[in-house]
Amino acid sequence: MAEIKPNVWSVGVNDWDRRLFDELIPLPDGTSYNAYLIKGGDKNALLDTVDPPKTTQLIENLLRAGAEKLDYVISHHAEQDHSGALSDILMFYPDAKVVTNPKCRDMLIDHLGIEGDKFITVADGQTLSLGDKTLKFIYVPWVHWPETMATYLVEEEILFPCDFFGSHLASSSLFVDSEPTVYEAAKRYYAEIMMPFRLPIRKNLQKIADLKIDMIAPSHGPVYKNPQFIIDAYKDWVGDNVRNEVVVAYVSMHESTKKMVERFVSTLIEAGISVKQFNLVNVDVGKLAVALVDAATIVIGSGTFLTGAHPVAAYAAVLANALRPKARFASIIGSYGWGGRMVDQLTGLLCNLKVELIEPVVVKGCPGDEDFAALNNLAQEILAKHKEAGIVD
Ligand code: FEO
Repeated sequence: MAEIKPNVWSVGVNDWDRRLFDELIPLPDGTSYNAYLIKGGDKNALLDTVDPPKTTQLIENLLRAGAEKLDYVISHHAEQDHSGALSDILMFYPDAKVVTNPKCRDMLIDHLGIEGDKFITVADGQTLSLGDKTLKFIYVPWVHWPETMATYLVEEEILFPCDFFGSHLASSSLFVDSEPTVYEAAKRYYAEIMMPFRLPIRKNLQKIADLKIDMIAPSHGPVYKNPQFIIDAYKDWVGDNVRNEVVVAYVSMHESTKKMVERFVSTLIEAGISVKQFNLVNVDVGKLAVALVDAATIVIGSGTFLTGAHPVAAYAAVLANALRPKARFASIIGSYGWGGRMVDQLTGLLCNLKVELIEPVVVKGCPGDEDFAALNNLAQEILAKHKEAGIVD
């Protein structure tokens, strides 16, 4: 708990021990559920709450920051890590009203059973005075849910954008103390949940472009005193540019696919293409997601399990399909024992991706010289495609 500007308090909680989000996303550095108390001349407002197990700590922080009363709880986003303590906060501060947009109100009623008369709904661009402080609400849908909004504290020029610009990073430092560290964590966060919505996020970036922002205080991770750092990073991630890079994600049961991957990756590197290679058996899906943010090409390698793709390769394809990276090209390599529909299955699972499928290389049994020549051709074709697309000179 600390004051980030006069009468603006960070009252959220670090979760140092959490190691998984959505029962899927690894959190190597834990996370934080940031909440902020703004004490105005007439009214007090709490911006968001915390994940339910951290409710007691939030209330302790509010009391230590001097919040004897709360007039408003601004709810930016209905997901439980920010709204889960809302019912308890409303019991503790029974006079407080929940300020949010109509879509978020409906979701809070559905998810938490909050009574309808507890809400004040606000329109996009509407303001709310706390006396000497003014809150301006800005809808920022699809970062990563449809109802999300941000608050801009006009007098202090602080943007509170909820998940937008956040990072899963528990830290003793309230503010960003190492931009490279936060860059990696924020990129990972973007990759894991924001990437499918890069076009709406572009619109949201335009929406905040004219605001004078001195500080960005997100709902996860440290506060940005240099907001341009994270705004520029987001502009890069949501832009159309891709890198001369291939993500090779594979699983191999009896070494055939592994031999193909090793030769293929060597050939790509010799051709001047950078590669991120992942063995899917023990993959950190966060790292795989980060690699998908910028790569021009995705190649999935799979052996054939019974009559189809190895389930672990299918999992990677489903994940990539859900994350919808901006890759331009894709291919498949792998092997089979007696037959199967591995390629058809994997291409079907990648149906959301706007990629050109380059002819797969699939071999029967252990790869031989002809197969390695085919892999060499695939690498050269990828290089040619990258050149045609202006990704590499
Ligand atoms: Fe941090 Fe979408 O909740």
